[in-house]
Amino acid sequence: MAFPRATEFAHLLVSRHLRTGDHVVDATVGNGHDTRFLAEAVGEGGRVDGFEIQPDAIRAARERLRDFPQVILHQVGHETMADRVPPERAAVMFNLGYFPSGDKRIITRAETTLPALDAALALLADGGLLTVVIYPGHPGGEEEARAVDAWFARLDSGPHRTLHCGPATTSPRTASPYLLALEKRENTEQS
Ligand SMILES: C[S@@+](CC[C@H](N)C(=O)[O-])C[C@H]1O[C@@H](n2cnc3c(N)ncnc32)[C@H](O)[C@@H]1O
Repeated sequence: MAFPRATEFAHLLVSRHLRTGDHVVDATVGNGHDTRFLAEAVGEGGRVDGFEIQPDAIRAARERLRDFPQVILHQVGHETMADRVPPERAAVMFNLGYFPSGDKRIITRAETTLPALDAALALLADGGLLTVVIYPGHPGGEEEARAVDAWFARLDSGPHRTLHCGPATTSPRTASPYLLALEKRENTEQS
C-alpha cells in the first residue's frame, strides 16, 4: 500500500508539528500506542495527558508507558478533559472507534465525542494541532463519522485551517478510515 494509513498520517502531521517540551493530549489512549508516540515526541520535559474509559485499556497502557513519567493517564471520558488539563496545549489527538483488544461494542460516540472536540479546540494554543482518525466501518461508526464531519465543516468558514486525508470518493461513503485535522488559528492575518 503506497499511501500511509490514517493513523500514520496523523503521526506524520503531529511529529512535524511538535517540539521537545510541548504539552499535549491523547484523547483516546486504548493500548497506549499513540500516547507513547506523543511521549517520545515531547520528551521528559513535556507532558502528555491521556484519557480512556476502559480499565483494561488503562492497564495495558500503564504497562506500555511505565518508562514515561511525562504521561498522566486519566480513567475518565475525554469529554471531561477541560476539568483536568490546563489550556495552551500544542496538540490533541483522537483515534476514535473501539479498543482493539477488548469489547468492540464499547465505542466512541458522537454524544461524547463532539463535546470532547469542543473542549479540545478550547484547550489548544494558537497554532495548535487537532487530529481525529475516524472509522466509519463498524456499527455506530458511520453515525459518529457524519457528526464529526459536520463539526469540522462548521469550522471551515472560520479562521482555522482544516485538512482531510482519506479516499477521494465519499459518496457513497467508503468504510475506510480517514483523518480530519485542524490547525487552530485565532488570528486571521497569520499565514
Ligand atoms: C481506537 S481505540 C484507541 C487506540 C489507541 N489510541 C492506541 O494507540 O492504542 C479508541 C479508544 O477510545 C476509548 N473511548 C471510548 N469512549 C471514550 C471516552 N468517552 N473517553 C475516552 N476514551 C474513550 C475506547 O475505550 C478505546 O480504547
